Parts: sequence; C-alpha cells; structure tokens
Amino acid sequence: MNILILGAGGREHAFALKLKESKKINQLFVAPGNAGTHKIATNISINPTDFEAVKKTVLENDVNMVIVGPEAPLVAGVHDFFLADEVLKNIPVIGPKKDGALLEGSKDFSKQFMQKHGVPTARYKSFTKENLTEGFNFLETLEPPYVLKADGLAAGKGVLILNSLEEAKTELEEMVSNKKFGEASTTVVIEEFLKGIELSVFVLTDGKNYKILPSAKDYKRIGEGDTGLNTGGMGAISPVPFADDAYLKKVEELVVKPTIAGLQKDGIDYRGFIFIGLMNDNGNPSVVEYNVRMGDPETEVVLPRIKSDLLDLFEGVANQNLNEKSFSVINDIATTVMLVSGGYPESYEKNKEITGLENVTESTVFHAGTTLNNNKVVSAGGRVMAVTSIGNTIEEALEKSYRSIDKIHFDKMNYRKDIGFDLT
Ligand code: AMP
Ligand code: GLY
Repeated sequence: MNILILGAGGREHAFALKLKESKKINQLFVAPGNAGTHKIATNISINPTDFEAVKKTVLENDVNMVIVGPEAPLVAGVHDFFLADEVLKNIPVIGPKKDGALLEGSKDFSKQFMQKHGVPTARYKSFTKENLTEGFNFLETLEPPYVLKADGLAAGKGVLILNSLEEAKTELEEMVSNKKFGEASTTVVIEEFLKGIELSVFVLTDGKNYKILPSAKDYKRIGEGDTGLNTGGMGAISPVPFADDAYLKKVEELVVKPTIAGLQKDGIDYRGFIFIGLMNDNGNPSVVEYNVRMGDPETEVVLPRIKSDLLDLFEGVANQNLNEKSFSVINDIATTVMLVSGGYPESYEKNKEITGLENVTESTVFHAGTTLNNNKVVSAGGRVMAVTSIGNTIEEALEKSYRSIDKIHFDKMNYRKDIGFDLT
C-alpha cells in the first residue's frame, strides 16, 4: 500500500517509522514532513489544510490511505472532503470527520457530549458576550483557582487558570468581548478546577470497536519542577506507574465505553484516534479534554511500545473490523525528552545547524521542527526533536535519553533535565 501521512512533527515522524516496519507498506509519503521523515519517506511540500493539494498528492502517487496527524485538517473537514469527492471517496482517512472532530474543535460541544453521555468531567457552564453577567455570577459560585477555556482551537493557548476572582472576571470579558483568542473565544467554557495528576489515554476506534493504546504522561511546562509557561510538551513517559491495570479498567468502564457508545448514539461515525486527557484524583478519573488525534510528544513513547503492525490496525479502522486485529504492547518503559529552541515557547531563532545525530546509538531521535538547508539538518521550530529510549525502568530509559542528548548540539538548545521527576 502507498500511505500518506499529513503533518510535520515528531508525532508524524514516529508514525512514519512505525509504519515502515509493516510488510504491507510500499511507498510512504509525509506532507509536509521534516528532515527526519525525509530520511525514511518522501516529503511532499504542501499544507495539510489545502485539500486540493492533498487530493493532487493522493492521485499523483496512487495513495491508498491517508493518516491525519494534527487536528487542524480534521476540524477543517479533510475526511468529509474525501467522502464528498467521487475519486477520493473510497480512500480511507484515519481521523474523524468534522462532526467527530468537534470533540476537540469545540470545548463547549465536548463538555455537552460528556455531560449527555455520563462521562465524568468537571462541572461547567458556557458564556458569550450576550450573557457575560451570568458568567460573572457563575464565577462567584466557584472556588479558586478559576478555569476559563476558549471554546475553539487556540493553538494550545486558550486555557487560563487564574487565582483571583477579579482577574477571572477581567479575563472572561477580554475573551468574549475583546476576542482575546479571536473567534475561538466567542464562547468561553468556565469549569471547576480539578485536583490531581494528569494522564493521557489513547484510543483507536473504528466507530464500533476500539483498542486502548499505552497510556502516557506529558510534561507541558517549560521549566523544571513543572514551572513556567505551557508548551506543546517537553517530554513524556509511558506507561504511567499509577495507571495500573485496575485503574485503566476503571477508565475503560467510566470513560472509554460511554465515549464510544455516545458517539454511536449521536450518529457520529468516528474512525481514528481519541486522546483522552484525564485528571486522576485519588483513583477517580475525570476528563479534562478530548483531542481527536494522537498527542505530541506522547506518540513518541506510545508507538515504540506497540508490537503490532500499525498499518494492520489502521486497516481494521477503515474496514470496521478492528476487533479482529491482534494488538500487543511491550512491557518496557519508554521515555522521551524534547529538545527545544532557546526562548521557546516565546520567541526563538530558527535555522540553527544540528550536529551529532550520527553519534546517537541507544535512542531514537524523532524530528519535530527540523528542515534541510543545503543538506544540513537545521532547526525550523520551537520544539526541535524528541529523544526516545526504552528501558526496564524509567530511570534506565531516561539515562539513555540524557546520554544521547549529550551528543546532540545546536545553538541555544534547551531541554528539561527532570522529565519523570514525579514518577521516579
Ligand atoms: P486543555 O486544553 O483543556 O487540555 O487544558 C490545558 C491544561 O490546563 C490541561 O492539560 C490541564 O493541565 C489544565 N486544565 C484544564 N482544565 C482543567 C481543570 N478543570 N482543572 C485543572 N486543570 C485544568
Ligand atoms: N502533548 C499534548 C498534545 O499533543 O496536545
């Protein structure tokens, strides 16, 4: 089969590397890809939300299946575009249609969905500038800290957690009346603050059947000890020690089953990944958010632990016989540490030459923001690469990642030296 992966990050490099293992793969394309995917696949320089360009790529290269990495093309309707097109309609797309993608594309929709289908989540209400005063009143009924979420996609920046009521009121007004996050904050979800430790659970579904993939924990803050600004993710670990079999069974019963059943009840034919962001409060899971794709950098620790043929699983999604597919996972621990550009997540410089990659022997380097410039690998984004290692313990895997990182260099390279600090 010829496969096209849409996206350009570490997640897509991890998909590409995993799919390369499949005996069923003929040609692999990544659009637009990065310097890492360039080495193992054919990069096609198009924007994944330019559906006509995606169509041209599919037809020119006899692509048999499309795997969508990021949320933007899904929320914009890439799967619907394929189904509506006479020549593309039989080419499977891994990723939900617009209706399912709303689970990530609209926080208000996803909260309504959870409430309707009995999925545990924080109490909430949604507000617009028309009922701003009611929003102020609702805030007064809550205890600090206050959680305000822009309804729409806001590049991971749309969630504010505020300690004072006055600040929360000011920010709410900024969001709905002054469009702090543009159209994304026309509606704002206000919800109760959840205590506990976060965990990500990943589900692959064909709309009827599902497989629960390895769980992972992401380290979102830029600074050590989980301090400073939020990032896309600075590192990840899989599995998560507190998410043992009994806990995951609880998550399956309380969250996964009602989610899949809810999609079916609402007539949403969902084919793809569901990334469930959970807060674990003393053994009780509560859903913080759904994403309609895999996480990044979580994919860089989840996929290396899957033994099964990923393409075979994707065929199960496309043919709705995922239940017939075998699925197994290695017990070892995977860790990844993200190397980022100095200054990220605020302003940073790009086009820094990256050296020493050829000396890395005990880890896999997944490229994120990299590109080729005169045949040299250079940085092209804030998150530059994820260094993944496997070990019998978290400590052993992390030691390998950090030894590998010592061999990699670029100007102003930054990374967290404490990934896993709360789990080891
Ligand atoms: P979201 O985009 O909904 O995942 O929110 C971003 C981050 O904000 C989450 O990963 C949590 O760390 C935090 N967060 C969101 N909602 C809550 C909540 N209700 N209680 C506590 N933390 C939250
Ligand atoms: N690492 C978090 C995310 O992919 O949204």
